[in-house]
Amino acid sequence: MSGPLDLILRQGHLPDGRTADVGVAGGHIVAVEPHLAATAPTELDCAGHLISPPFVDAHFHLDAARGLGDRVNRSGTLLEGIALWGDIKPELTVEAVYDRAMAYCDLAVAQGIGAVRTHVDICDPRLVAVEALLAVREAVRPYLTLQLVAFPQDGYLRDRDAAPLLHRALDLGVDVVGGIPHFERTTAEGDASVVALCRLAAERGLLVDMHCDETDDAASRHVEVLAREALRHGLQGRVVGSHLTSMHAMPDAYVAKLLPLLAEAGLGAVSNPAVNLHLQGRFDGYPRRRGLTRVPELIAAGVPVAFGQDCVQDPWYPLGTGDLLDMAWIGAHATQLMSQAGLRACFDAVTTAPAALLHLDGYGLAPGCRADLVVLAAADPVDAVRRRPARRWVLRGGEIIAQTAPRDTRLALAGRPIAPRW
Ligand code: FE2
Repeated sequence: MSGPLDLILRQGHLPDGRTADVGVAGGHIVAVEPHLAATAPTELDCAGHLISPPFVDAHFHLDAARGLGDRVNRSGTLLEGIALWGDIKPELTVEAVYDRAMAYCDLAVAQGIGAVRTHVDICDPRLVAVEALLAVREAVRPYLTLQLVAFPQDGYLRDRDAAPLLHRALDLGVDVVGGIPHFERTTAEGDASVVALCRLAAERGLLVDMHCDETDDAASRHVEVLAREALRHGLQGRVVGSHLTSMHAMPDAYVAKLLPLLAEAGLGAVSNPAVNLHLQGRFDGYPRRRGLTRVPELIAAGVPVAFGQDCVQDPWYPLGTGDLLDMAWIGAHATQLMSQAGLRACFDAVTTAPAALLHLDGYGLAPGCRADLVVLAAADPVDAVRRRPARRWVLRGGEIIAQTAPRDTRLALAGRPIAPRW
């Protein structure tokens, strides 16, 4: 390390178990050492706190967030959500989508989110959401990284206008190729959409992230075609299957063949635990399936898995707070990843794993990385998942962009401490 520092975070716990000072200069981490002798104009006392790179939401729908209005999804199904969204779309304006999205980005930053991959519905002849979210992407760039996925909500082949609209959206600067094969009219057309969209991504040099097999139907197996096309085009490490919930219902013998194929194809997986616990199992009586993809088995097979939020107060889901530690917490329960290693994997699923799936530059805690950091009142990643504490400081490029006062509960119990110590 040489030269003056702008900022030092003192004596924080790092996710790997070290306790260290983190030195920042010129917007980047320049030193991570047990004790830095240098001083800096700003020093943050991080004793007893966890210093992490920011949370990354691998799967979101920013155009629909808080977009439900007075309507209600009575069946709680994906299909009724799509129908409701179809009613809402003609009423959308660029200004309204922009304002809602900007407000959500404020919330995301306050919760320590540094990057969001948001699907944007291109099945709209006006491309209202595309225009709004491209503007939002530029407006928030200094403090939040947005990656836009061209998402044909009504089906790339099922909606006869989707193909030219998707091409137009990519021409306008949307980043990633999306899809929804299980919503095409037939299995064959679902497979054909995967083939066409992967070819398009290969031709344009773009990443792929498809909604894939978001159903309890064990026969929905588009993910195997997604893997095959990734291999065919040399797209290993560049293709993500989102949801993959049909894997929950598939026969074990088929999954035993599928998992090595996904690993061979370098596929990433995104599970959205809160939303899929809510949407899946709706055609079951009892016992009622959880409907999530097979997260522990994917991880064990070498397939990287991220947890996304998917929705906040939209036609598919009435809750959501922008807190990815909620996703880690509920994901741990839904997938029974409750060992220390499993809980650690749940923390990774909202930090390092999605950062890799999104190909984020300069992400991490090593010298040379961007000084994008979150400081939490937690001893380690497992403690962070357990407590889901306030984000004490959120930094972007070494600047504090959000801070939250710690909880300060006072007990009035005779003979007991003034604050709970658990
Ligand atoms: Fe989604």
